[in-house]
Amino acid sequence: MWSSAAVKIFIAHLALTFSFGSTLRLYGAPYEGVLHRYTRPTFSKSDSRATGRIVGGEVAAEASAPWQVSLQNIYGSHFCGGAIISDQFVVTAASCVSGLQRNLVKVITSTNEWMGLAWQYDVEKIHVHCNFDKPLYSNDIALLKLATSIEYDDQTKNITVADEDELEEGETLTMTGWGSSVEGEWYEDELKVLKVQYLPYEKCRAAYGNSDDVDMGHLCTNSSVGEGACHGDTGGPLVDSQGRLVGIGNWGVPCGRGFPDVFARISYHADWIRTTINGCNPT
Ligand SMILES: *[C@@H]1O[C@H](CO)[C@@H](O)[C@H](O)[C@H]1NC(C)=O
Ligand SMILES: *[C@@H]1O[C@H](CO)[C@@H](O)[C@H](O)[C@H]1NC(C)=O
Repeated sequence: MWSSAAVKIFIAHLALTFSFGSTLRLYGAPYEGVLHRYTRPTFSKSDSRATGRIVGGEVAAEASAPWQVSLQNIYGSHFCGGAIISDQFVVTAASCVSGLQRNLVKVITSTNEWMGLAWQYDVEKIHVHCNFDKPLYSNDIALLKLATSIEYDDQTKNITVADEDELEEGETLTMTGWGSSVEGEWYEDELKVLKVQYLPYEKCRAAYGNSDDVDMGHLCTNSSVGEGACHGDTGGPLVDSQGRLVGIGNWGVPCGRGFPDVFARISYHADWIRTTINGCNPT
């Protein structure tokens, strides 16, 4: 439940709200996600490769992934992950938010339990990559500009975007998510973490029958059968050993069947992220 730090922050919020009026709301509203606890994902592509989540792995230590957010609908149902990259921007997958109105997406920060008390932020603008799904499964990345700045604390921090990556085959990467741990089951309430290995593009492509669906803008990981992304993990962060964001969950044969998981490669999209944040992209 509420740590004393969270209570203090909440009281500080109230004080600011009262002293400056409600127009100067600097933070998200406290949020108790108890509604629709068992609602299914708001979207899942009909294709079996869509939306992923973590199978295997373990419960993440509190504050071990403070950049992780849960994207939820207005009823408090988790549908995707995301990562805080600045106090105003969250990066996620385009497939999570494409076609959604901004007021239907809430960004939940500062907790490992997506049904626990946390901070909720409204979205001011959704920037979906203009070439999302052109071709199919490409450029599956989006930025959410928040209506109020994120308040950083021990459980809430930004993650550095990897402008370049020099990943080597077999290198350990870390993914986190609230997706279901068993295919077809409910989402997890607690954030889970899984160590996976970097799999070069050519091998990933080969694992998917040399499909064009895997391209340079993707980053793949492999893990043992019984481990991997599952429904609800899409949009979530993949982090390298230096703690930098290298991928955003995209797709894969879900739920640990031994196929690579496919992420949007952050280094490939770093320019898009920068120009979008700087306001130069008309998306
Ligand atoms: C990320 O957070 C650190 C520490 O609070 C801050 O110094 C840095 O400017 C932030 N980066 C961005 C892009 O907001
Ligand atoms: C991942 O793929 C590499 C080959 O690229 C292989 O050596 C490794 O055993 C695989 N890891 C798992 C967990 O399957």
